[in-house]
Amino acid sequence: MRLHLKDRLINYLAPWEPFLVAIKNHWHAFQTRHGATGSIKDRAFADWYTTMVPQFTEYESTTNLPALVSAAQGTVLELGPGPGNQVLRYNPSAITRIYGVESNEGFADALQARVTKAGLDNKYTAVFCSIQDANTLERHGIVEGSMDCVTSFQVLCCIKEPNEVIATLWKLLKPGGELIFWEHCANKDWVTLLVQKFWSIFWPTLRGGCYLDRQVGDIVLQSADWEVVELNYSGEKWAMMPRVSGRLRKVVAE
Ligand SMILES: C[S@@+](CC[C@H](N)C(=O)[O-])C[C@H]1O[C@@H](n2cnc3c(N)ncnc32)[C@H](O)[C@@H]1O
Repeated sequence: MRLHLKDRLINYLAPWEPFLVAIKNHWHAFQTRHGATGSIKDRAFADWYTTMVPQFTEYESTTNLPALVSAAQGTVLELGPGPGNQVLRYNPSAITRIYGVESNEGFADALQARVTKAGLDNKYTAVFCSIQDANTLERHGIVEGSMDCVTSFQVLCCIKEPNEVIATLWKLLKPGGELIFWEHCANKDWVTLLVQKFWSIFWPTLRGGCYLDRQVGDIVLQSADWEVVELNYSGEKWAMMPRVSGRLRKVVAE
Protein backbone atom coordinates (compact mmCIF):
# COMPACT_ATOMS: atom_id res chain seq x y z
CA MET A 1 0.00 0.00 0.00
CA ARG A 2 1.47 3.37 -1.08
CA LEU A 3 1.37 6.12 1.53
CA HIS A 4 1.72 9.03 -0.94
CA LEU A 5 3.72 10.95 1.63
CA LYS A 6 4.86 13.65 -0.81
CA ASP A 7 1.30 14.29 -2.08
CA ARG A 8 0.02 14.40 1.46
CA LEU A 9 2.67 16.84 2.66
CA ILE A 10 2.14 19.21 -0.29
CA ASN A 11 -1.63 19.23 0.19
CA TYR A 12 -1.57 19.45 3.97
CA LEU A 13 0.65 22.55 3.85
CA ALA A 14 -1.19 24.17 0.91
CA PRO A 15 -3.60 26.30 3.02
CA TRP A 16 -0.61 28.22 4.36
CA GLU A 17 -0.31 30.53 1.35
CA PRO A 18 -3.99 31.57 1.07
CA PHE A 19 -3.89 31.99 4.82
CA LEU A 20 -1.18 34.66 4.52
CA VAL A 21 -3.07 36.31 1.64
CA ALA A 22 -6.18 36.39 3.87
CA ILE A 23 -4.25 38.31 6.54
CA LYS A 24 -3.26 40.90 3.88
CA ASN A 25 -6.92 41.14 2.66
CA HIS A 26 -8.10 41.78 6.23
CA TRP A 27 -5.41 44.40 6.80
CA HIS A 28 -6.44 46.20 3.62
CA ALA A 29 -10.16 46.00 4.56
CA PHE A 30 -9.27 47.39 8.00
CA GLN A 31 -7.30 50.31 6.51
CA THR A 32 -10.18 51.19 4.15
CA ARG A 33 -12.95 50.71 6.74
CA HIS A 34 -14.01 54.41 7.01
CA GLY A 35 -17.12 55.04 4.93
CA ALA A 36 -17.19 51.44 3.70
CA THR A 37 -20.33 49.32 3.86
CA GLY A 38 -20.03 45.77 5.14
CA SER A 39 -17.86 44.26 7.84
CA ILE A 40 -14.07 43.99 7.52
CA LYS A 41 -14.46 40.21 7.33
CA ASP A 42 -17.04 40.36 4.50
CA ARG A 43 -15.10 42.93 2.49
CA ALA A 44 -11.83 41.02 2.87
CA PHE A 45 -13.48 37.80 1.72
CA ALA A 46 -15.24 39.45 -1.23
CA ASP A 47 -11.95 41.09 -2.36
CA TRP A 48 -10.07 37.80 -2.27
CA TYR A 49 -12.78 35.65 -3.81
CA THR A 50 -13.42 38.08 -6.66
CA THR A 51 -9.73 38.16 -7.62
CA MET A 52 -9.65 34.33 -7.61
CA VAL A 53 -12.53 33.98 -10.12
CA PRO A 54 -10.34 33.07 -13.17
CA GLN A 55 -8.48 30.29 -11.28
CA PHE A 56 -11.69 28.91 -9.74
CA THR A 57 -13.51 28.98 -13.09
CA GLU A 58 -10.68 27.13 -14.84
CA TYR A 59 -10.61 24.38 -12.20
CA GLU A 60 -14.41 24.07 -12.00
CA SER A 61 -14.60 23.61 -15.78
CA THR A 62 -12.71 20.32 -15.37
CA THR A 63 -15.35 18.94 -12.97
CA ASN A 64 -19.01 17.90 -13.04
CA LEU A 65 -20.05 21.38 -11.78
CA PRO A 66 -21.00 22.91 -15.18
CA ALA A 67 -23.32 19.96 -15.93
CA LEU A 68 -24.99 20.29 -12.54
CA VAL A 69 -25.56 24.04 -12.92
CA SER A 70 -27.07 23.60 -16.37
CA ALA A 71 -29.55 21.05 -14.96
CA ALA A 72 -31.31 23.79 -12.96
CA GLN A 73 -34.73 24.69 -14.31
CA GLY A 74 -37.86 26.69 -13.60
CA THR A 75 -37.88 29.09 -10.66
CA VAL A 76 -34.51 28.76 -8.96
CA LEU A 77 -33.06 29.96 -5.67
CA GLU A 78 -29.27 30.18 -5.94
CA LEU A 79 -27.84 30.15 -2.44
CA GLY A 80 -24.75 32.32 -1.96
CA PRO A 81 -23.89 33.24 -5.57
CA GLY A 82 -20.95 35.39 -4.40
CA PRO A 83 -19.42 37.13 -7.46
CA GLY A 84 -21.66 35.07 -9.75
CA ASN A 85 -19.11 32.47 -10.84
CA GLN A 86 -21.84 30.02 -11.80
CA VAL A 87 -24.26 32.45 -13.45
CA LEU A 88 -22.85 31.88 -16.95
CA ARG A 89 -23.36 28.13 -16.53
CA TYR A 90 -27.17 28.19 -16.23
CA ASN A 91 -29.18 27.17 -19.27
CA PRO A 92 -31.19 30.38 -19.93
CA SER A 93 -33.89 28.57 -21.91
CA ALA A 94 -34.63 26.29 -18.93
CA ILE A 95 -34.84 29.15 -16.44
CA THR A 96 -37.99 31.07 -15.54
CA ARG A 97 -36.37 33.17 -12.78
CA ILE A 98 -33.35 32.95 -10.48
CA TYR A 99 -33.22 34.52 -7.03
CA GLY A 100 -29.59 34.85 -5.91
CA VAL A 101 -29.71 35.03 -2.10
CA GLU A 102 -26.37 36.43 -0.96
CA SER A 103 -25.46 37.75 2.50
CA ASN A 104 -22.31 39.66 1.48
CA GLU A 105 -23.05 42.93 -0.34
CA GLY A 106 -19.37 43.22 -1.24
CA PHE A 107 -20.19 40.93 -4.18
CA ALA A 108 -22.92 43.18 -5.61
CA ASP A 109 -20.96 44.73 -8.50
CA ALA A 110 -19.24 41.51 -9.59
CA LEU A 111 -22.51 39.58 -9.45
CA GLN A 112 -24.37 42.21 -11.48
CA ALA A 113 -21.60 42.21 -14.12
CA ARG A 114 -21.89 38.43 -14.61
CA VAL A 115 -25.69 38.51 -14.69
CA THR A 116 -25.49 41.07 -17.51
CA LYS A 117 -22.77 39.08 -19.32
CA ALA A 118 -25.00 35.99 -19.15
CA GLY A 119 -27.91 37.95 -20.66
CA LEU A 120 -29.96 37.20 -17.54
CA ASP A 121 -30.82 40.78 -16.49
CA ASN A 122 -34.54 40.12 -16.96
CA LYS A 123 -34.44 36.78 -15.13
CA TYR A 124 -31.94 37.16 -12.26
CA THR A 125 -32.88 38.96 -9.04
CA ALA A 126 -30.10 39.45 -6.49
CA VAL A 127 -31.49 39.43 -2.94
CA PHE A 128 -28.92 40.65 -0.43
CA CYS A 129 -29.83 38.99 2.85
CA SER A 130 -29.11 35.80 4.75
CA ILE A 131 -31.03 32.71 3.72
CA GLN A 132 -32.26 32.73 7.33
CA ASP A 133 -33.95 36.14 6.86
CA ALA A 134 -37.48 34.82 6.17
CA ASN A 135 -39.07 38.32 6.11
CA THR A 136 -36.86 39.62 3.29
CA LEU A 137 -37.29 36.38 1.36
CA GLU A 138 -41.05 36.63 1.71
CA ARG A 139 -41.03 40.17 0.28
CA HIS A 140 -39.59 38.63 -2.91
CA GLY A 141 -42.16 35.84 -2.96
CA ILE A 142 -39.64 33.27 -1.75
CA VAL A 143 -41.92 31.25 0.48
CA GLU A 144 -42.63 27.61 1.26
CA GLY A 145 -43.30 25.52 -1.84
CA SER A 146 -42.32 28.28 -4.30
CA MET A 147 -39.11 26.94 -5.91
CA ASP A 148 -38.61 24.34 -8.63
CA CYS A 149 -34.94 24.19 -7.83
CA VAL A 150 -32.44 25.32 -5.20
CA THR A 151 -28.74 25.44 -6.09
CA SER A 152 -25.84 25.57 -3.65
CA PHE A 153 -22.29 25.71 -4.95
CA GLN A 154 -19.52 25.92 -2.33
CA VAL A 155 -21.75 27.53 0.26
CA LEU A 156 -22.65 24.80 2.77
CA CYS A 157 -19.03 24.77 4.02
CA CYS A 158 -19.50 28.27 5.40
CA ILE A 159 -23.17 28.64 6.18
CA LYS A 160 -24.16 28.98 9.84
CA GLU A 161 -26.49 26.25 11.20
CA PRO A 162 -26.29 24.12 8.04
CA ASN A 163 -28.84 21.53 9.24
CA GLU A 164 -31.46 24.23 9.77
CA VAL A 165 -30.64 25.84 6.43
CA ILE A 166 -31.08 22.54 4.56
CA ALA A 167 -34.45 22.06 6.26
CA THR A 168 -35.41 25.61 5.17
CA LEU A 169 -34.30 24.99 1.58
CA TRP A 170 -36.37 21.78 1.53
CA LYS A 171 -39.44 23.75 2.62
CA LEU A 172 -38.90 26.38 -0.09
CA LEU A 173 -38.97 23.68 -2.78
CA LYS A 174 -42.16 22.54 -4.45
CA PRO A 175 -42.93 18.83 -4.00
CA GLY A 176 -40.66 17.04 -6.48
CA GLY A 177 -38.36 20.10 -6.68
CA GLU A 178 -34.59 19.57 -6.65
CA LEU A 179 -31.63 20.64 -4.57
CA ILE A 180 -28.57 20.72 -6.83
CA PHE A 181 -25.28 21.05 -4.95
CA TRP A 182 -21.52 20.93 -5.44
CA GLU A 183 -19.61 21.41 -2.18
CA HIS A 184 -16.24 20.71 -0.61
CA CYS A 185 -16.37 18.53 2.45
CA ALA A 186 -14.57 16.42 5.05
CA ASN A 187 -12.20 13.82 3.61
CA LYS A 188 -13.02 10.16 4.30
CA ASP A 189 -9.33 9.54 5.03
CA TRP A 190 -8.88 10.00 8.80
CA VAL A 191 -5.35 11.43 8.62
CA THR A 192 -6.46 14.08 6.12
CA LEU A 193 -9.55 14.74 8.21
CA LEU A 194 -7.32 15.45 11.22
CA VAL A 195 -5.34 17.95 9.14
CA GLN A 196 -8.62 19.53 7.93
CA LYS A 197 -9.66 19.83 11.57
CA PHE A 198 -6.36 21.53 12.41
CA TRP A 199 -6.74 24.13 9.63
CA SER A 200 -10.40 24.64 10.56
CA ILE A 201 -9.27 26.15 13.88
CA PHE A 202 -8.09 29.27 11.99
CA TRP A 203 -9.55 28.99 8.48
CA PRO A 204 -13.17 30.08 9.16
CA THR A 205 -12.05 33.32 10.88
CA LEU A 206 -10.07 34.47 7.86
CA ARG A 207 -11.88 32.75 5.01
CA GLY A 208 -15.53 33.81 5.19
CA GLY A 209 -16.55 31.22 7.81
CA CYS A 210 -15.45 28.27 5.66
CA TYR A 211 -14.89 24.93 7.45
CA LEU A 212 -12.67 22.38 5.73
CA ASP A 213 -13.83 19.51 7.96
CA ARG A 214 -17.61 19.76 7.56
CA GLN A 215 -19.49 16.51 6.81
CA VAL A 216 -21.55 18.25 4.15
CA GLY A 217 -22.89 15.10 2.48
CA ASP A 218 -24.24 13.68 5.74
CA ILE A 219 -25.72 17.03 6.74
CA VAL A 220 -27.59 17.42 3.44
CA LEU A 221 -28.91 13.87 3.39
CA GLN A 222 -29.92 13.75 7.05
CA SER A 223 -31.58 17.17 7.40
CA ALA A 224 -34.57 16.54 5.13
CA ASP A 225 -36.47 13.88 3.23
CA TRP A 226 -34.82 13.37 -0.19
CA GLU A 227 -34.89 10.96 -3.05
CA VAL A 228 -31.35 10.71 -4.42
CA VAL A 229 -31.27 11.47 -8.15
CA GLU A 230 -27.48 11.67 -8.29
CA LEU A 231 -24.79 11.64 -5.60
CA ASN A 232 -21.03 11.87 -6.19
CA TYR A 233 -17.91 12.06 -4.04
CA SER A 234 -14.57 12.92 -5.61
CA GLY A 235 -11.10 13.70 -4.38
CA GLU A 236 -7.84 11.99 -3.50
CA LYS A 237 -7.23 10.68 0.00
CA TRP A 238 -4.95 13.62 0.66
CA ALA A 239 -7.24 16.30 -0.85
CA MET A 240 -8.02 19.15 1.52
CA MET A 241 -11.16 19.97 -0.47
CA PRO A 242 -12.72 16.76 -1.80
CA ARG A 243 -16.15 17.33 -3.32
CA VAL A 244 -19.59 16.00 -2.64
CA SER A 245 -22.18 16.85 -5.25
CA GLY A 246 -25.48 15.75 -6.65
CA ARG A 247 -29.17 16.24 -7.21
CA LEU A 248 -31.75 15.44 -4.54
CA ARG A 249 -35.50 15.47 -5.07
CA LYS A 250 -37.89 16.67 -2.38
CA VAL A 251 -40.03 13.80 -1.17
CA VAL A 252 -43.34 14.62 0.47
CA ALA A 253 -45.10 11.89 2.46
CA GLU A 254 -48.58 11.10 1.11
C1 LIG B 1 -17.37 30.33 -1.11
S1 LIG B 1 -18.56 31.44 -1.65
C2 LIG B 1 -19.25 30.60 -3.06
C3 LIG B 1 -19.70 31.54 -4.14
C4 LIG B 1 -20.30 30.89 -5.38
N1 LIG B 1 -21.47 30.09 -5.06
C5 LIG B 1 -19.31 30.06 -6.14
O1 LIG B 1 -19.59 28.90 -6.49
O2 LIG B 1 -18.21 30.57 -6.42
C6 LIG B 1 -19.87 31.24 -0.43
C7 LIG B 1 -20.92 32.32 -0.54
O3 LIG B 1 -22.02 32.01 0.34
C8 LIG B 1 -22.45 33.23 0.94
N2 LIG B 1 -23.18 32.94 2.18
C9 LIG B 1 -22.69 32.45 3.35
N3 LIG B 1 -23.65 32.36 4.28
C10 LIG B 1 -24.79 32.80 3.69
C11 LIG B 1 -26.15 32.95 4.15
N4 LIG B 1 -26.50 32.63 5.41
N5 LIG B 1 -27.06 33.42 3.28
C12 LIG B 1 -26.72 33.74 2.00
N6 LIG B 1 -25.46 33.63 1.52
C13 LIG B 1 -24.51 33.16 2.35
C14 LIG B 1 -21.13 33.97 1.17
O4 LIG B 1 -21.34 35.35 1.38
C15 LIG B 1 -20.40 33.67 -0.12
O5 LIG B 1 -20.69 34.60 -1.13
